[in-house]
Amino acid sequence: MLRDDALKGKTIIVTGGGTGLGKSISRYLLQLGANVTICSRRQAVIDETAKELMDETGGTVLAVACDVRNPEQIENVLAETIKKFGQVDGLLNNSAGNFISPTERLSYKAFDTIVDIVLRGTYYFTLAVGKYWIENKIKGTVLNISTTYATTGSGYVVPSAVAKGGALIMTKSLAAEWGKYGIRLNAIAPGPFPTKGAWDRLFPEPLASMMDPTSRIPLKRVGEHGELANLAAYLLSDYSGYITGESITIDGGEVLAAGEFSHLESVTPEQWDMIGETIKQANRASKKEGQ
Ligand code: HXC
Ligand code: NAP
Repeated sequence: MLRDDALKGKTIIVTGGGTGLGKSISRYLLQLGANVTICSRRQAVIDETAKELMDETGGTVLAVACDVRNPEQIENVLAETIKKFGQVDGLLNNSAGNFISPTERLSYKAFDTIVDIVLRGTYYFTLAVGKYWIENKIKGTVLNISTTYATTGSGYVVPSAVAKGGALIMTKSLAAEWGKYGIRLNAIAPGPFPTKGAWDRLFPEPLASMMDPTSRIPLKRVGEHGELANLAAYLLSDYSGYITGESITIDGGEVLAAGEFSHLESVTPEQWDMIGETIKQANRASKKEGQ
């Protein structure tokens, strides 16, 4: 979507960049000329991705192991990135943990694990990078990968919904507070984009056979990684320079399908004829009553 070299000279840290959506977005950032640091807990995974993406794009990727629940490890990612690339211009908070479960089955630790990765990890990383930007007068940009249920809420993924909701409010709050430094913060709320990480934990059997995630999406398909990468690159680029504190939904209309009458696709044209006639009859009857 963006022109070649749109991110040339920029350095962006992508948490969870070794797999799934983080990997796809990193690939596009590199194609647009950015330097990218990817980080996550598993060094072998990020090393392999770094090599693959560098071979594919000719760009430079630094892979630094980091658990986003640990501030010292976050500061190490920041320091290593500055050492390698000179400065940091963007942060993509993409790491997450999640699994589907009735909430009453969760242990206290299960709840904490998700909230610590998603909420605490996002604000620790944002705080570390934000302090560095303010101190060095850098007009950096944060992009947080949220979910559509950060605003609607959702059963069966309650810790994730709580944490994503908190991270979204942090995005908006800091956009208001740090605008004076030229720092922007935005979010993307994706609907379903197939990845192994999410599908293994959210659509395992027998759930996968019981529900088709595309059936309630108006566009009748899941998202393509390139579609999300386009939006992410735009929001991390200077082209979106006047957008801050915003969350952009990219879900094929899934959230809107919850509208009261949006699910009436199974009504046939003949049934609509009948329904129309019935309503008109009722209208005529009520007019007569008024005469
Ligand atoms: C109930 C569970 C559970 C499950 C784990 N736990 N899985 N409880 N049902 N299915 C409990 C454990 O029993 C333990 O509690 C606690 O959670 C921590 O588990 P650990 O395995 O020790 O944690 P850890 O090794 O840190 O692994 C974190 C993880 C794991 C979140 C549990 O799934 C992970 O590494 N995930 C990373 C990738 C990921 O989740 N990707 C999906 C993102 S998709 P006890 O009390 O027993 O010790 C997404 C949105 C998608 O976010 C939206 C789609 C439309
Ligand atoms: P994924 O491949 O499982 O990505 C999650 C990443 O987070 C992994 O690379 C994982 O790497 C990393 N991670 C987990 N715990 C971490 C920790 N404690 N510290 C550092 N990194 C950690 O799943 P995905 O689908 O691409 O998800 C990416 C983002 O998109 C998430 O924020 C998710 O909530 C969001 N999202 C996805 C969808 C979808 O349909 N796929 C929809 C809405 C939102 P390690 O295991 O190596 O740490």
